Amino acid sequence: MNPEAATHSIDRRDEIRHLHDGEPAPAANADDGGAGDDDAPLVELQDVVLRFGKKTVLDGVSLAVYPGERLIVLGGSGSGKSTTLRLIMGILQPTAGRVFFCGHEISALGRRELNVLRARIGMVYQYSALISSLTVRDNLALPMEELSDQKPEEIDRIIDEKLAMVNMGNVKSAMPAELSGGMKKRIGLARALVLDPELILFDEPSAGLDPVTSSIVDELIINLTEQTQTTSIVVTHEMDSAFRIGTRMVMLYEGKIIADGPPEEFRHSSNPVVTQFVEGRTEGPILDSTRHHDPKPEQPATTTAGR
Ligand SMILES: Nc1ncnc2c1ncn2[C@@H]1O[C@H](COP(=O)(O)OP(=O)(O)O)[C@@H](O)[C@H]1O
Ligand SMILES: [Mg+2]
Repeated sequence: MNPEAATHSIDRRDEIRHLHDGEPAPAANADDGGAGDDDAPLVELQDVVLRFGKKTVLDGVSLAVYPGERLIVLGGSGSGKSTTLRLIMGILQPTAGRVFFCGHEISALGRRELNVLRARIGMVYQYSALISSLTVRDNLALPMEELSDQKPEEIDRIIDEKLAMVNMGNVKSAMPAELSGGMKKRIGLARALVLDPELILFDEPSAGLDPVTSSIVDELIINLTEQTQTTSIVVTHEMDSAFRIGTRMVMLYEGKIIADGPPEEFRHSSNPVVTQFVEGRTEGPILDSTRHHDPKPEQPATTTAGR
């Protein structure tokens, strides 16, 4: 990380501290993950329940994510993976329980404080979510214009730096529609990096990519997070990616975390739900809601060419 970027992130930490002057230390082992604080979780969910109407998506989820981890969140469609990321970003509020980032309770913050904290979290969305009417340059400038007070020259310097990090130095003036899926994904990654976040959230980073591009993106995720010493949470249901990227895995099933541990444990799990998911088998305890539409279920969706 360059010295200027480090200064910015310290400024932001100071701002957060000021916002919370005089408050008692939050339960989740306060402070901002600075030096000498390596045991404190960067993110913590405590007994989180989330309901949409009558539907319970998360039913008592507790999870602590530590600095330097690349945590994979596994789970079937609709198991609450994206919802979990939205809770961490403060976009959603838990129905019960608490969510902390750097010891600050996300759901207890006002809008301004939340924005300060959000500036320290990068998000890479499924399908990139670039704004189609803006050039690559302007897409990357947006988070800085909204969440920082960088000067235009500085913004352009940072954009060049981040685009170089994802090997996309020459597309600044391109429109998103001119880019391939893999290129858009890289731009999405560069955009997540512009504020030098401490945490990056990835929502299905391989979605819609061919296997080769997907591996390249996986490598990029590993290299960038190691290079910038950023913690990351990666939602995916692609097991190849999960095993490549993860330093730790959790699996969501029926609103709960049913497994949590190093990737090796997931390969040799004794939990039939985990094994079914990891091996992509159709037979097992996981109910396939699409099954009754397809009388002859085959291999998992990622391997069915089927046309
Ligand atoms: N804003 C919302 N309103 C109502 N239901 C929602 C909303 N967001 C997500 N859900 C439901 O919550 C469940 C979990 O969604 P999500 O977290 O997106 O799943 P996934 O694990 O596929 O990312 C799904 O059943 C989804 O339909
Ligand atoms: Mg999702």
